Amino acid sequence: LKPPVRVAITGAAGQIGYSLIFRVASGEMLGPNQPVILHLIDLPFAMTALNGVAMEIQDCAFPLVQGIVATDNQTVGFKDVNYALLVGAKPRGPGMERGDLLKDNGKIFTETGKYINDHASRDIKVVVVGNPCNTNCLILANQIKDIPKENFTAMTRLDHNRAQYQLADKLGVHSSDIRKIAIFGNHSPTMVPYIDQMTAKNHKATVDQQWVTQTFIPSVQQRGAEIIKARKLSSAASAGNAAMNHITTWVNGTAEGDYTSMAIPSDGSYGVPKGLIFSFPVTVKNGKYSIVQGLPISPFYQGLLDKTIKELVDERNAVDHLLK
Ligand code: NAI
Repeated sequence: LKPPVRVAITGAAGQIGYSLIFRVASGEMLGPNQPVILHLIDLPFAMTALNGVAMEIQDCAFPLVQGIVATDNQTVGFKDVNYALLVGAKPRGPGMERGDLLKDNGKIFTETGKYINDHASRDIKVVVVGNPCNTNCLILANQIKDIPKENFTAMTRLDHNRAQYQLADKLGVHSSDIRKIAIFGNHSPTMVPYIDQMTAKNHKATVDQQWVTQTFIPSVQQRGAEIIKARKLSSAASAGNAAMNHITTWVNGTAEGDYTSMAIPSDGSYGVPKGLIFSFPVTVKNGKYSIVQGLPISPFYQGLLDKTIKELVDERNAVDHLLK
């Protein structure tokens, strides 16, 4: 067994937390040889519920769990942490504008950024799940002084996995047979599922353009809303699963000949303004991701990219005061 690593999960008393924590504890995220110390963070009012979660982890007697820190204190919560899955965020309430959501979460992620900067391990890898996740990540990373900016990412893997399933279903193959697809842009209804290079069972695969525009893209963009309608609750198990996939791929790499989707600081590729937290197709090797370059962008896709870029620029402008 390797020495233990510290994994922080915020929003740990919430519904994503409840499906995610137990799978991380079982070794599904970092592998069967990697012991973990779980840092479970939530707000003061949620501490009773969080202690219940901690008791259930104890009662699983997980061989890989070497300690549990359940806390509402972020100094303790982020101390020496190697991986952080930032799920906790303020949800959008009735009548709340997107601007209000950005502002309220802006405060949370400014604060969390300071604690991570001051207390976390210098090699920390962060994935922001709490929405609006791209701009929350931008705000967070802005507080960081001496940890590389590329260690701060946001999650579009759920959108990627959703796209993979829709395409597999259409082509009559398994999700794992679908490769070379990616999500560009914001984790929001403007996201762009890019499939022009798609392969199924290692052969170039195409689907008709009308299905792409009228069925596929809307179904991926609206899948979250569809699940809320069905479950009366937002997607939780699939979101937790995607957060784990994001970290696992970041650590273990992408398969040869495939790529995945991560929202990362833009380096200007594909005309995306530098610094925006933007989802790109990436390959990962030795714990480092690189943007897949040179994918052909049709006028159809360029139109969609322009929209999602504009939305993220508008979001950045709305929180400009937090980025100084
Ligand atoms: P939930 O409401 O069940 O749980 C959220 C938890 O976060 C609560 O226990 C709350 O007390 C806690 N929390 C709030 N602010 C916090 C803070 N500053 N520090 C620590 N904990 C805090 O919500 P759920 O369903 O677990 O979703 C969490 C977030 O994940 C939401 O923002 C949701 O929009 C987002 N999400 C993102 C997805 C993505 O693809 N990026 C997919 C699905 C959900």
